[in-house]
Amino acid sequence: MDESGVSPENHVRIFDTTLRDGEQSPGASLTSAEKIDIARQLARLGVDIIEAGFPAASPDDLEGVRRIAHEVGTPDGPIICGLARATRGDIDKAWEAIKDAAKPRIHTFLATSDIHMKHKLRMTREQVVERTRDMVAYARSFCDDVEFSPEDACRSDPDFLVEVLGVAIEAGATTLNIPDTVGYITPDEYGALMRKLIHETPGGDRVIWSVHCHDDLGMATANSLAGLVAGARQAEVTINGIGERAGNTSLEEIVMALRTRPNMFDLTTRIDTTQLTRTSRMVSNFTGIMVQPNKAVVGANAFSHEAGIHQDGMLKHQATYEIMTPEDVGLTQSNLVLGKHSGRHAFRVRLQELGYEMDGEDLNQAFIRFKELADKKKTVTDADIEALIADEFYGPEEVFHLEGIQVACGQPGMPTATIRLRGPDDRVCTCAAIGTGPVDAVYQAIDQIIAVPNTLVEYRVSAITEGIDALGEVTVRIRRDENGGQTFGGHGADTDIIVASAKAYLSALNKMLAITGYQDHAPEGAAATIRVGTST
Ligand code: KIV
Ligand code: ZN
Repeated sequence: MDESGVSPENHVRIFDTTLRDGEQSPGASLTSAEKIDIARQLARLGVDIIEAGFPAASPDDLEGVRRIAHEVGTPDGPIICGLARATRGDIDKAWEAIKDAAKPRIHTFLATSDIHMKHKLRMTREQVVERTRDMVAYARSFCDDVEFSPEDACRSDPDFLVEVLGVAIEAGATTLNIPDTVGYITPDEYGALMRKLIHETPGGDRVIWSVHCHDDLGMATANSLAGLVAGARQAEVTINGIGERAGNTSLEEIVMALRTRPNMFDLTTRIDTTQLTRTSRMVSNFTGIMVQPNKAVVGANAFSHEAGIHQDGMLKHQATYEIMTPEDVGLTQSNLVLGKHSGRHAFRVRLQELGYEMDGEDLNQAFIRFKELADKKKTVTDADIEALIADEFYGPEEVFHLEGIQVACGQPGMPTATIRLRGPDDRVCTCAAIGTGPVDAVYQAIDQIIAVPNTLVEYRVSAITEGIDALGEVTVRIRRDENGGQTFGGHGADTDIIVASAKAYLSALNKMLAITGYQDHAPEGAAATIRVGTST
């Protein structure tokens, strides 16, 4: 046992790759400010390793990883890892990005399946073995902590894997990760493969073995658990299971499976499970990727009971239909009975209980928003406060700020919106537009000011709590019509869903502008411009 009471043999290291494999989800682009906020939250959650990005992908990616290494990679914080293909150039960039972390790790990978070696790499088996030896040793010349992944391991010849992994250990790898890159394997097969590799690879007892599964056939969690049962002690996972195509194994499912079934697994993690819901919401808000309502552990329905028989059982004893409690995953039930007469002190204490340390100007700002909400809503719940904090304090740097919004609609009528935005150089633009409905009119008016061609690919509205006065939450995803068609997510919350819709669209546009740059299309020198457009 170590000082925290964790037995090293039974400890599963949680390697979070939300910011690397997760960010590879279509439309999951994150600004560097959002990446830092997520990395801080992952550290609070208690992950052992953060894979912060792929530094060779672009100068922005390198800078994002470097900031996380510097700001989150403290001596008592997580290991900060950078991904690199097995090339000197990639490894140099990964090291440059992570070297400021107290505990840096380089993760290098090279494909080992015949199909990848022949068609993608155009390399022979011998060349792959030699490249593995050279590049693991090269990574090791910078850093004591080196992870190696044979990409597409689960479609590779298992005996060839033993050879490559043995060479990686000889060259200095300290963690060996076995990726099911295309989500092809089944639990029995993955467990058997892991067992074979651990026992047959020379030096296999000196390294940590790791699982990394994709969810193309819906088996990522089951496969990862099978790998852990077979002896792996690191799980590569993402929040909400986001990732390439159908995604990666979800962190919350692995952690709660190990915690809920101790007799089955006898394995532990250092995760503070009460942070799971908050982390899930943050990742969903920032990426614009909604969590499906029936998602295990963090879905909106994960703790809802609809059938009469179930409700009756629950009223008699919670354990009749619940194997975990909402409190276990940080889904607090308390209603905040702070009304408009409540003071700043009580509000601050509640924020602290929810994990937000706020002082000075930030506290003032949060308190103003809380009071505005308490004026409109009878009870302000913890979920309301979290949405309000996300809305006010997280999200991209604002290029354009919403200063005012007015909408007229009805039947019969022409839905009309007037929008006022404050843009670069403090220029204020006011614009009115007619749309097919109020949200369309708002978006048309915003488009006339910001004028970056894009397509709205997803628009969702949901109520954060029950009741007619509930806070409405809107999530959108937009795709830029030029510059490679990248997708960006945005989020907004307000008691008025039209205002929430405007905030969500503006936050997606701000993210697009922050990541891809802004060219001012607004009229030259206009301090206050009024333009009227129609949807035609
Ligand atoms: O799925 C995969 O093969 C990967 C590797 C880079 C580890 O993400
Ligand atoms: Zn992957």
